Amino acid sequence: MTTAAVVPAAGRGERLGPGTPKALRDLGGLPILVHAVRALVSARSVDLVVVAAPPDDGGVDEVRLLLADHVPMANVVIVPGGSSRQQSVALALDHLPITVDVVLVHDAARPLVPVELIDAVTSAVRAGAGAVIPVLPVYDTVKEIDPGGRVVRTIDRSVLRAVQTPQGFDRELLVEAHRKAAAEGIDDLTDDAGLVERIGHTVVVVPGHEEAFKVTRPFDLVIAEAVLARRRSAGVMA
Ligand code: CTP
Ligand code: MG
Repeated sequence: MTTAAVVPAAGRGERLGPGTPKALRDLGGLPILVHAVRALVSARSVDLVVVAAPPDDGGVDEVRLLLADHVPMANVVIVPGGSSRQQSVALALDHLPITVDVVLVHDAARPLVPVELIDAVTSAVRAGAGAVIPVLPVYDTVKEIDPGGRVVRTIDRSVLRAVQTPQGFDRELLVEAHRKAAAEGIDDLTDDAGLVERIGHTVVVVPGHEEAFKVTRPFDLVIAEAVLARRRSAGVMA
C-alpha cells in the first residue's frame, strides 16, 4: 500500500502576469511549489511526491535546487512536465514505482492546502472509492450567457460544486483514464476526474477546504499572503 502524490507544476502562470513559471514565484518568502510539496510531504498518508517541473532547459534542476533547501528530498522525484496540465500529469504517472496503488494529483498552484484535506482524500480512496474529489459550494449566482453577452438562464446553484485538488484515484483507474484520453486525441483536459468520468467511472466527493484555493490571478496571491500571515501569527509552521 503506497500512496504517491503527483504535482503538476509545469505551467507558465499566464493569468498571474509576466514572470517566472507560477510554481516558482514567491509566496511569503518561498516558492509556491515549496509550500505545496511541504504540505504533501507532511501528510501522513503520502509516501512519495512526483513533481512535473517546467519542461524548459534546466527546469528540473532548478526545481530540485529550490525544493532541496526546504523539503526532505528522499521521497521526492522531479520529472519534466509537458505542454498541457494533462500531459504533465501523464508524464509524472509514467515515473511511478510499481508499488504505488493510490495516486493523488495536486496542483502546485494550491500551495496552502491543509494536510487534513490531503489525508481525507487518501482515506476516501483507501475506503474503496476509485476516484475522489474535494468540492465546495458555489457561492455566487451563476448564469449562462449567449455569445452576444445576453443572459440565457440562471443555473440552479444548489446542484453545482467548485472542484479543488488533491484529487485521489486508484492508480490503475487513473492511468487507464489518461491512456484512453490520449488515444482519442484529448490532451488538454484540466481536470483528472473529468478523464475518469469520460470512461464511465463514478467520481465521489468529499468536503473541500477554502485554503485549498488555486492561485490563478494576482488577487489570489494577496489572499494567499494573508492566509500565510494568519498561520504564521498563529504559530503554525508555514
Ligand atoms: N500545469 C502543468 N503543466 C502545464 C500547464 C499547467 O503542470 N503545461 C500545472 C500548473 O503548474 C498548475 C496546475 O497545472 O500547478 C494548474 O494549472 P493552472 O492554474 O492553469 O496553471 P498555469 O497553467 O501555470 O496558469 P495559466 O493557465 O494562467 O497559464
Ligand atoms: Mg493553465
